[in-house]
Amino acid sequence: MSAVLSAYRALIAGGELRPDATQAAAAERLAELATALEAVPKRGSTLWKLLGRLPDPPRGVYLWGDVGRGKSMLMDLFFQHLDIRRKRRVHFHAFMQEVHHRLHIARGSQVPDPIQPVAATMSEEVRLLAFDEMIVNNPADAAVLSRLFTAMFDRGVTIVATSNRAPTDLYKDGINRSLFLPFIDLIQQKCDVVALNGPVDYRLDRLGRIDTWLVPNGPEATAALSAAFFRLTDYPVEDRAKVPVEELDVGGGRMLHVPKSLKGVAVFSFKRLCGEARGAADYLAVARRFHTVILVGIPRLGPENRNEAARFVTLIDALYEHKVKLLAAADAAPEDLYATGDGRFEFQRTVSRLNEMRSFDYLAKGHGAD
Ligand SMILES: Nc1ncnc2c1ncn2[C@@H]1O[C@H](COP(=O)(O)OP(=O)(O)OP(=O)(O)O)[C@@H](O)[C@H]1O
Ligand SMILES: [Mg+2]
Repeated sequence: MSAVLSAYRALIAGGELRPDATQAAAAERLAELATALEAVPKRGSTLWKLLGRLPDPPRGVYLWGDVGRGKSMLMDLFFQHLDIRRKRRVHFHAFMQEVHHRLHIARGSQVPDPIQPVAATMSEEVRLLAFDEMIVNNPADAAVLSRLFTAMFDRGVTIVATSNRAPTDLYKDGINRSLFLPFIDLIQQKCDVVALNGPVDYRLDRLGRIDTWLVPNGPEATAALSAAFFRLTDYPVEDRAKVPVEELDVGGGRMLHVPKSLKGVAVFSFKRLCGEARGAADYLAVARRFHTVILVGIPRLGPENRNEAARFVTLIDALYEHKVKLLAAADAAPEDLYATGDGRFEFQRTVSRLNEMRSFDYLAKGHGAD
């Protein structure tokens, strides 16, 4: 049996995952793909020379469905147990950022079709690309995807992707969508499209009924948020000192240090996010990258904190627009957080958004801007 499938079954047997027929079927499909990828003869092997060309890459898998259905969980399991060397897992947005950066450089060197060298670089040293959260919402991405992926598939790349949308609904109502349609055909041609749309939102389940805005800051709130972090990320509490950090590229050559970053969940202090000179670009990068943000140490704000308050407004706008789940510890309820000071009137919108962000309906929404 493939290691992917036995790992999945072990998690069910150990009670870490609840049995779910739709997930089991998807796990089997992914296990099949792992076996196929592992069976491809190594570059330079005799068989490969006999064929005289690159063997056709195995068909990929496009997993789509509502939030919290276990898409990323299954993809991670697949990726972790896939026994090939040339594999890469990347958040789709980060990948596209990299693509545009490389396209920009390639255009400077006057090559006739910059997409070709970029596709070559991006598929170098990988046979399997795993994309989490495939989402297309800007014309710049839409315009290059079809040619970029055609070139990557031609170079023997297989993809596995997760998305909240069926391929046919990608970039729905987008500008110049007709230029994008070949990409949809391409995905359907090169991947099995697997719907993962069972009735249970497991993430919401794991959040439980905790209030997501905890007052006041203190050991009790910290303990509750820490427990939520470990539940959401399936990370062993014993390894708490080893939770990965991340340097997030916020554009313009600037980085943002993320002190805890795991499976789309980030932990920040208010001081780091709103106490330093940060702006909309930083908050957008955070909102795109993470589906859940845990923000600790939000103090009561006064007239002397007008800059922090303004940054906090921008941060909440970005999180709200990308439907990011916010778990926070603060010294006051949203309506009492910024009682007096410049921009207090505008802060009303933030209060209203913060309250909506605590609702069941908001928490059940999918991550993303569209
Ligand atoms: N069968 C299951 N039993 C228990 N927990 C599960 C099960 N499937 C998934 N989970 C857990 O539910 C949470 C959400 O799963 P996951 O992140 O894979 O969802 P997703 O489909 O990728 O959602 P999104 O579309 O928002 O990215 C994770 O913590 C995951 O480990
Ligand atoms: Mg996911």
